[in-house]
Parts: sequence; C-alpha cells; structure tokens
Amino acid sequence: MNYEHELTEVPLLKLRNIHKYFGKVHALKGIDLDIYEGEIIGLIGDNGAGKSTLTKIIAGAIRKDSGEIYWNGRKVEIKNVNDARRLGIEVAFQEMTLIDSLDIGLNIFLGREPLNHKIRFLLDYNKMYEEARRILKQLGLRTWNNPKREVRFLSGGEKQGIVVARAMLFQSKLVILDEPTRNLSVAGVRMVLDFIKSLKEKKIACIFISHTLHHVYEVADRIVLLSLGRKILDVPKSQYTVEELENIIIEKTMKQDVSV
Ligand SMILES: Nc1ncnc2c1ncn2[C@@H]1O[C@H](COP(=O)(O)OP(=O)(O)OP(=O)(O)O)[C@@H](O)[C@H]1O
Ligand SMILES: [Mg+2]
Repeated sequence: MNYEHELTEVPLLKLRNIHKYFGKVHALKGIDLDIYEGEIIGLIGDNGAGKSTLTKIIAGAIRKDSGEIYWNGRKVEIKNVNDARRLGIEVAFQEMTLIDSLDIGLNIFLGREPLNHKIRFLLDYNKMYEEARRILKQLGLRTWNNPKREVRFLSGGEKQGIVVARAMLFQSKLVILDEPTRNLSVAGVRMVLDFIKSLKEKKIACIFISHTLHHVYEVADRIVLLSLGRKILDVPKSQYTVEELENIIIEKTMKQDVSV
C-alpha cells in the first residue's frame, strides 16, 4: 500500500514489527514504517500513543525490545545516539532538545567537536565558531552573529534552527522533530514549518510530530497516525483534504479505543 515509491526506490529507513515495553506497558505493538529520501512524515496521535517512543528508538536514545531496522536497505542496530548520528539521523526531542547552559556553537558541534591539530586533545574552538557562523548565516538565521550566546536565551524557533544547522553541517539524512511547534507563537510556528519545507528542498527526510493536524498537513507528504502503540493510518496527504483527514482520524481513534 505504499504508493509511487514502492517499485523504484529503497526506503531510507524501514522499520519492521517494532515492539517496546516499559515494564508492563506495551508502548509499541509491532510498528512498520517506511521513510523515503526527502520525505516528510507527519506523525500524529493522542498522548501516550507511542510517537516519542518510536522516534527515540530510531534516534538511539532507547532500545527496542524486538523488530528490525533497515537503513538504505541494510539491516542496522542503533544502540545509541552516536550510532544514529553516524547514519545521518538528527533529533530534537520534546524534553531534551539542546543543552541550555552551553552556547550555540557548542550545541551545534555537540559530540562531534573538531580537534585542534597543533595542541593535541584540545578542541578547535575557533574552527567551531567559524563554521557555526557560516552555517547559521547560510540558513538565514539571526543567531549567526553571536554563536557564543547560551542557548537558554533563545526562542523555541531559534533553538529549532540550531538543530537544522546541525543537520545541514553534518549532512543528516533524517531529522526528527518532536513537537517543534508546541507553545510557539504564530510567527514561531511559521518559522518551523518553513524550516521543514527547506529540509525537503535539501532532500533531507523529516519525521514531524505534532498534535496539531493543521501544522502537520501543511508540510507533510504522508500522515501517520499512532494509537495505543499501533499504526492505524498511513496515507499520502495529497489524497485528502484536512477536513477529511480530521474525520478519518476521529473515527479511527474512536474505533481503536473501543476495541481494547
Ligand atoms: N521512560 C518511560 N518509562 C515508562 N513508561 C514510559 C516511558 N516512556 C514512555 N512510556 C509510556 O509509553 C507510552 C507511550 O509514550 P510516548 O511518550 O511515546 O507517547 P507520545 O505519543 O509521545 O505522547 P505525547 O503526545 O504525550 O508526547 C505511554 O503509555 C507512556 O506512559
Ligand atoms: Mg511525545
């Protein structure tokens, strides 16, 4: 049921039968998901549906209990965040996006700081800030003029910008944004949605989690709905109006609720 891609391309990321337990809570009950290069997935679902859990598994922040993950057709084990980064997966988590007490430059290079070749084992701070400026400017972000600013002074939208800068600099293939538009102003939401569109232009795939269907609808190629740990909808956006999708989501979620 996977549309025009199926015969021509290998998915960038393919998940098969992913299960995750937290003690007695069966948080993910056999999730399958395919994501293609440059594709924007709008991941939606009620509180506790399993959205963050699924993306944390992809990002190496937590381990799955069973199931398979394929990257460009090759089976992989993502054991930690570094494994995910090496593959080209970049994440902004709901609750742990960036390190607030560090500055912009350090956040961009977090875990991948360049070393100073003259003085061994020392980080090359000059190079880091120079590169940070370059990439932020290129992205048209105001933060470029002061990469030594601590991240805690930035707005939500500006923080997202840092994640995008990271993705660009390290040539990520997949960016995961967990509720990036939550609590943002109208202008902030616009900025994030424009960022997501710019990822697409650069052929970077994105999983965009949100509770607001209208935000997801504007930028996503595909809408994926989780409910109580199961995927209950996976459709190309182009086939539906936002109102139609709204109705389908309500109907599907209600059905799922009474069946358990
Ligand atoms: N670290 C954890 N320990 C125990 N249970 C957890 C943990 N993380 C998630 N869960 C449980 O797993 C289920 C899925 O949670 P998850 O955070 O993935 O939902 P979500 O779809 O992201 O919800 P929200 O929209 O509220 O962010 C929930 O029942 C939640 O209580
Ligand atoms: Mg969540």
